[in-house]
Amino acid sequence: MKRVLLLAAMCLGFSAPVLADLALATSKNCMACHNVERKVLGPAFKDIAAKYKGDAGAADMLANKIRKGGAGVWGPVPMPANTQVSEAEAKKLATWILVTPQ
Ligand code: HEC
Repeated sequence: MKRVLLLAAMCLGFSAPVLADLALATSKNCMACHNVERKVLGPAFKDIAAKYKGDAGAADMLANKIRKGGAGVWGPVPMPANTQVSEAEAKKLATWILVTPQ
């Protein structure tokens, strides 16, 4: 399964560090509710990147939300807290999501 995901990511033309972060997001269960390209239960990562484009504080704000959960920004469905994610991992994931190509 991981292999298939990695292959799919490569086909999309992602570079190696981006792949590493996709693997992190997959291992932290983010991809159960999110997809890079399209909305699943949560918003597409490319839509999140578009929404916060040019917002210098977005990475810290989103890292905090990733760990504590959030609601009311994208629709009626809340994101539960992701307590399995460390502060450093949350910052890495937020930074990665914000550079998703649109
Ligand atoms: C149970 C499903 C679920 C899981 C698991 C999940 N999310 Fe979410 N996520 C959501 C939903 C639903 C929203 C929209 C919440 C809202 O409208 O404020 C969201 C919103 C977000 C946002 C945007 C927040 C904002 O305020 O704009 C980011 C960034 C995000 N998720 C990242 C992650 C990351 C990284 C992980 C893995 C650690 C993760 N999510 C795991 C469902 C999930």
